[in-house]
Amino acid sequence: MNTDPARVRLYPVIKAVRGTRDLFGEELGYKRWIEAAAGQVLEAAGAQEIETPILEEAPVFEKGVGPTSDVVQKEMYAFTDRGGRRLVLRPEGTAGVMRAFLEHGMKVRPAPVKLYYRGPMFRAERPQKGRYRQFYQVGYEAVGLSEPAVDAEAIALLVDLMKALGLQRFVLKLGTVGDPEDRRRYNAYLREVLLPHREALSEDSRVRLERNPLRILDSKDRGDQEVLARAGVRPLFDFLSEAAKAHYRAVKGALKALGVAFEEDPRLVRGLDYYVRTAFEIHHPDLGAQAALGGGGRYDGLTALLGGPSLPGVGWAVGTDRVILALKAEAIPAPPGPAPLLYLVPLDAEAVVEALVLAESLRPRLPVELAYTPRKPGKGIREAERRGARYVGFLGEGERARGTISVKDLVTGEQQELPREKLGSWLEAL
Ligand code: HAM
Repeated sequence: MNTDPARVRLYPVIKAVRGTRDLFGEELGYKRWIEAAAGQVLEAAGAQEIETPILEEAPVFEKGVGPTSDVVQKEMYAFTDRGGRRLVLRPEGTAGVMRAFLEHGMKVRPAPVKLYYRGPMFRAERPQKGRYRQFYQVGYEAVGLSEPAVDAEAIALLVDLMKALGLQRFVLKLGTVGDPEDRRRYNAYLREVLLPHREALSEDSRVRLERNPLRILDSKDRGDQEVLARAGVRPLFDFLSEAAKAHYRAVKGALKALGVAFEEDPRLVRGLDYYVRTAFEIHHPDLGAQAALGGGGRYDGLTALLGGPSLPGVGWAVGTDRVILALKAEAIPAPPGPAPLLYLVPLDAEAVVEALVLAESLRPRLPVELAYTPRKPGKGIREAERRGARYVGFLGEGERARGTISVKDLVTGEQQELPREKLGSWLEAL
């Protein structure tokens, strides 16, 4: 593949949709590596993979994620299909996984039921670095137990994944958003203290003041933050029930026992409405405005919103695209892409099919590529190097007469002639 911009000719063709992009080469190598590492980390803890459809009925998210969240209000790709059904391209994984959990009666399995998934998600956000309209997540959900140890384990697994990838400069932020009753009390309090400052709030936050004042704490607007400071807003933590505080302390205790470092963030507000109690995010300092590599929390009762029994659950998702940016920022290389071990070079026309037959006889045990027209040895070597081959094999008149192949090691420069039938075992022995 020629990616030298000076040499690539670009044609004015149809482009990928704004906010989406094609994944190939190094980028796809990173993505597959992240997904494989997640599979290893999560399966070792007893999680099973699940794949749910990208298309879901709109209520899965309207009810599950919550009608006041930005994701549902502003960012969903929703449409009515030819049968008049209201469908969406899933904006996140949890609500769909819980829909599947209920649909397949997974409640009968021993709790917690641990599931993990990966795949594309869709949000109509303004595209920028680390923010796409089609992006990829790897997620984990543990359903059926409300024990703080399950929260701590989920968080530890997220940190294990970051470490398995070799990332070092990430920060785990931990908070609690309390129970719905706690938040109702807190929202009433926020309305009361912020109402006198209503005019100083941003337009978005004035809407939030009516719908869900808690979200104002999350506002990136400078003016909003000044209002919060001026009004001397008390933290949500002060409004938590004893049970919710005890849960939070237990999660912190378990994380300390696990040696998982975290920073407490009393202002941590997650963008989705289903969270209760534990909330957490992984941030990376090199990622600029889109610093969250992943996030999650507890979502007891989400299944009830979807029409099932009320079940506890906790989980997280990482943004694969952002993890790739973090890996690049920490100069952690992508796993090497496929490269041939051997590149076969026919020196005359007759040797082309000989090279093809030889290549096919060695595959798929050994990765072999070839030139399809005769080459001079020097050009053959340059091509082999560009493809990342370790060895180049020449087939010419002399080799044909002797039933051999001349093999050059591109690292040591050594060249030798081998009987053709020995080539496979010789390469395998290396
Ligand atoms: P979330 O915080 O909305 O949580 O998304 C998780 C991660 O997905 C983010 O931290 C970010 O890395 C990535 N992400 C989100 N939006 C974009 C975007 N537009 N472009 C690129 N990456 C993005 C959830 O989705 C929850 N379902 C997580 C969860 C699972 N909670 C409990 N279980």
